[in-house]
Amino acid sequence: MPTPSNAMSEERIKEALRTVQDPDLHKDLVSLDFIRDIRITGKDVSFTITLTTPACPLKDKLRQDSENAIRGLIPDVGQIQIGFDARMRADRRIMEKLKLPIKTIVAVGSGKGGVGKSTVAANLAVALAQSGAAVGLLDADIYGPNIPTLMGLQQLPPPQKEKIVPARAYGVLVMSMGFLVSETEALVWRGPMIHGALQQLFTEVVWGELDYLIVDLPPGTGDAQLSVAQLVPLTGGVVVTTPQLLAVSDARRGVTAFKKLNVPVLGIVENMAGEVFGEGGGEKAAEEMQVPFLGRIPMDPVISRMGDAGRPPVTLESVDGSAGALRSLARNVAARISVLQFQENGNGR
Ligand SMILES: Nc1ncnc2c1ncn2[C@@H]1O[C@H](COP(=O)(O)OP(=O)(O)O)[C@@H](O)[C@H]1O
Ligand SMILES: [Mg+2]
Repeated sequence: MPTPSNAMSEERIKEALRTVQDPDLHKDLVSLDFIRDIRITGKDVSFTITLTTPACPLKDKLRQDSENAIRGLIPDVGQIQIGFDARMRADRRIMEKLKLPIKTIVAVGSGKGGVGKSTVAANLAVALAQSGAAVGLLDADIYGPNIPTLMGLQQLPPPQKEKIVPARAYGVLVMSMGFLVSETEALVWRGPMIHGALQQLFTEVVWGELDYLIVDLPPGTGDAQLSVAQLVPLTGGVVVTTPQLLAVSDARRGVTAFKKLNVPVLGIVENMAGEVFGEGGGEKAAEEMQVPFLGRIPMDPVISRMGDAGRPPVTLESVDGSAGALRSLARNVAARISVLQFQENGNGR
C-alpha cells in the first residue's frame, strides 16, 4: 500500500529540508549532506544538522527554517527536535607539509602597526573557542609580541619532552615569542633568525588537534610575513585597518601581499571606527579590492581597558557594542572559511 502523501517518513523530512538553504553556501541542507540521524517516533521527529564550523552564525535561522519547512509539508507533525554538531574540513596542505593535525591556519595582518591587529586576533581566537572550536593563537609578531598581555598570560607551562607546551587562556592555546625572549633581544634579530624562530613556534610547540590556528602577523608586508607564508600553508588571511585614508592604503598593500603569496583573502576588518577616525574606509577598500568586508569594530575605551587587563571583550556577556561586533566578526571569518573550502573541494566529504 503506498504511504499517504501527508504521512511522516524519512523521505518526506528530506523533501522538506531540500527547500532549506544554507545562506552562505547557497545550497540546500540535503544536497550539502548536512542531515544526520533522522528518527521518527509516532508524529515526532528528531535529526542532527552537521555544520562545517562550530562557529556557524546561522544555527537559529537554520533551526527555524527547517521547522517551518517540515510543518509546511507535513502539517500534523508533532515535536521537532533539531541537534547541531560540526565537522570542520581540514586544509590538507597543513598535514602534508607540517604533519600537524591542525585543520586551518588563519593569518591576521595589517599594513601598519597600531591598528588593532593583535586585539582582533585575540578576540577572534577566543570567540571561536567559545563556539566550541579547538583554537590556537600564535603570536608571530616578534618585535611587538602583545598577545601574552592581551590574554592575561605571563609565562609558559614547563616543557614536555623538550617540546614547548603552549599556555592556555579563555579556552585558547597561546604561544608567543614574548614568552621566550625579551623585546630588546629580538630587536637585533635578522631575517634568518626570525625565520628559524617562527618555524619553532609552529613545529616545536605541542598544539595538538586544532580547528583554527590564528596567527597574529607582524605589521607590514615585509620579510616576516613572507617567512610565515613560506613556512606554513595559510588557509586564509584577514587584513585589519582603521578608517583613515593612510591606514586604508596600507591595508590595500596588505591585501595585495596576501594575494601575491597565494593566500586567499578572507576579508578586511575596519577597527576603531567612530568619531575620531570616521568610518567606512575599510568597507570602501574591501569593495574596491573585491574582497569581503568582515565587520566594523567601534572605537571603544572598553576594548583598550580590557586589553590592558588581559581579558578579551568577547568574554563579556553583552551581545551589542564592541563585544558583539567582535563576536560577529569571528562568525563572519568562520563562515568565509567554510565558503572557501566548499569552493575549493565541492561538497564531497
Ligand atoms: N576598537 C578599539 N577601540 C579602542 N582601542 C582599541 C581598539 N582596538 C585596539 N585598541 C587599542 O589600540 C592599541 C593597539 O592595538 P593592538 O591590537 O595592539 O594593535 P596592533 O597589533 O595592530 O599593533 C591597544 O592599546 C588596543 O587596546
Ligand atoms: Mg600587535
